[in-house]
Amino acid sequence: MVATFAKEKARQVRGVQGGGGSGLGMAMPEITDAEFNQLSQLVYQHAGIHLPPQKKELVRSRLTKFLRNRKLTSFHDYYQMVLEDTTGLELVGLLDAVSTNMTAFWREPKHFEFLGQELLPVMRQKCKRTPQWRFWSAGCSSGEEPYTIAMVLLNAIPDKDMSGVKIYASDINTQVLNQAQRGIYPLSRVEPLSPEWRRRYFQKGVNQFEGYVRVKPVVKQLVEFFRLNLMEPFPFKEDFDVIFCRNVMIYFEKSTQTELVRKFHHCLKPGGYLFIGHSESLCNISHQFAYVKPTIYRK
Ligand SMILES: C[S@@+](CC[C@H](N)C(=O)[O-])C[C@H]1O[C@@H](n2cnc3c(N)ncnc32)[C@H](O)[C@@H]1O
Repeated sequence: MVATFAKEKARQVRGVQGGGGSGLGMAMPEITDAEFNQLSQLVYQHAGIHLPPQKKELVRSRLTKFLRNRKLTSFHDYYQMVLEDTTGLELVGLLDAVSTNMTAFWREPKHFEFLGQELLPVMRQKCKRTPQWRFWSAGCSSGEEPYTIAMVLLNAIPDKDMSGVKIYASDINTQVLNQAQRGIYPLSRVEPLSPEWRRRYFQKGVNQFEGYVRVKPVVKQLVEFFRLNLMEPFPFKEDFDVIFCRNVMIYFEKSTQTELVRKFHHCLKPGGYLFIGHSESLCNISHQFAYVKPTIYRK
């Protein structure tokens, strides 16, 4: 168990270090406006992510290592390589590099308070036997959001059999999904959680693993991670009770947001809930949801 934790930790550290930046002493090739436009158009077409001109330097710095590793001298050559790669892996790498993955445990606490104190007690009252609930964290990044949902569930319904409860968690970015799947985080990441929750839901690393925690199996087993591009048709056979899609649509244009919200509505059970990020709103798009409170909607 400890040895596995060690390997996992080393892998995570490598993953984090390899996650971006150009590296010390590396010459950064220039990116022209035309090259930036080509790449941002490609990202927009495939992931719906809008990269404004202000992101040019960020894109340049994040992609420089790709050029170097492939011995390419221009961003145009890199763009051509992505287009010509029939495996699709270059495109996955590009999307991994440009997506913004900021997240946190217990982020935007009002959502989790509402879930634990208002929504789950009602859902629990309605269910006579074992709960059969389906949650979805759409755009889950490195896992903090779905794991927080799992902890809220375990805390609110401690005496119920959870075998019929599943939290599906998807993202377009394969690197953050790997981190999420490992469930290992620097200790500083769990600071937003109370000491009681840290003790109950995390295992602390010791000796050489000092400074890291791992999500306990009781939490982990509730969550299933998978890659999904929200621009593509959803693969689900059954509808959801609750969908979290927070701080994802902010990167999309209005028409993309409208279509995505329509798809969420379609795959929620009647009475199901949609949570969006606190800086997001459905105000300016047409949709069929009923407003519950800011950033919380009901089908
Ligand atoms: C800022 S993070 C938000 C994470 C979490 N929901 C939260 O609020 O803390 C946005 C996530 O959306 C993902 N994302 C962006 N475009 C996507 C797409 N087209 N399909 C799926 N995920 C996408 C990014 O990879 C990133 O991990």
